[in-house]
Amino acid sequence: MIKIAVLGFGTVGSGVVEVMAENKVSIAHNAAEEIEVKYILARGDHAESPFAGLVIHDFSVIESDPEIRIVVEVIGGCGAAYEYTKRALLAGKSVVTANKELVARHGQELIAIAKEKNLNYLFEASVGGGIPIIRPITQCLTANEIDEVYGILNGTTNYILTQMIQCGTSFDTALRQAQELGYAELDPTADVDGIDACRKTCILADLCFGRHVPPDEVKTQGIRGVDLADVAYARALGYKIKLLGRALRSGGDKITAYVAPHLIKNSSLLSNVDGVMNGIVVHGNAIGEAMFYGAGAGKRPTASAVVADVIDAAKHFKARKYLSWEPAAPGYVTDADEMPMRWYVRVKASLTAIGTKLGNVRFVTRRGAPPDEYAFVTDPMTHSSLHESLEDMEVLSHYRILD
Ligand code: HSE
Repeated sequence: MIKIAVLGFGTVGSGVVEVMAENKVSIAHNAAEEIEVKYILARGDHAESPFAGLVIHDFSVIESDPEIRIVVEVIGGCGAAYEYTKRALLAGKSVVTANKELVARHGQELIAIAKEKNLNYLFEASVGGGIPIIRPITQCLTANEIDEVYGILNGTTNYILTQMIQCGTSFDTALRQAQELGYAELDPTADVDGIDACRKTCILADLCFGRHVPPDEVKTQGIRGVDLADVAYARALGYKIKLLGRALRSGGDKITAYVAPHLIKNSSLLSNVDGVMNGIVVHGNAIGEAMFYGAGAGKRPTASAVVADVIDAAKHFKARKYLSWEPAAPGYVTDADEMPMRWYVRVKASLTAIGTKLGNVRFVTRRGAPPDEYAFVTDPMTHSSLHESLEDMEVLSHYRILD
């Protein structure tokens, strides 16, 4: 019998404990040994929970209990989660997590400690919720030189955009619905402002390109500015607006990475990734393109990936999984704004000003637009050139186009 402890009893933590109990028999079969939750570390007593008897408040009980061989960290953030993860590893316990902030910021250091102690630090649930993506990248696709990875990496913002696109729902109402459904982070600004997608983009880039990408070097724009007018113009063009995280090689041994709303073609597979679903595209020189699709957030999908990592850790006590990347290097992440792209732009300006500054652009119209509002698509240009061209106009929005 393998005993584990779960740190955190929020949405994901309770999902993990429930799935462990519900699928006890098949999990024991898959792990070749029974696995039991011995402790749940939580702030409150959770007296209403059928698992209240397992709740404790002192991490040192877990740290000093030799029976505990695997610790599941689903506290989130980089405070107590960081401290307890280190202490658990140093105490000889493998750690499994869904904590993308911790992996994106301190993953390299934590993996190094795990390696030193011959333990595992596993984080399949940190990107794409229940979608298998960490293992495909680090195992199934290792024959490839990967040159690009991108996708819809945040369920909350994808849910909001889908509601705006399909139902004309306001941003605030859709955000409230996503929170009620348990998709959003405790502080939903991490979702809405693209910070959560940025962390996931960093983890994907770390794994695909082999070197740490610090989240603060990744330009990040969320969906706060997206307006129903932009949704209408995108529709008229045959596109949808989706928040994408993207990392790609930018020449030599450098990469670029960024998070921003994009217009993507209705005919692309990603454009049909709706609601809370996530979709991740990996481009490799042998496979071409592979896309991974599934539930990117929520209690049980995330628990699905966490519990699978627990089973994997249980099967590999003496065999490390080879997840690792090199430390950050100055100049490794180049500025995404210097990458030429086509842009969708909505301005208040005169036709003459647009023609003079941008030449031949492709205009698009929508019903009910104010008379001085123009929306158009540019030729490929860098963000700095676009910015310069739009200098004297009132810019209402501008988004990248993924062709
Ligand atoms: N808040 C995150 C999302 C949870 O909406 O995608 C899963 O990482």
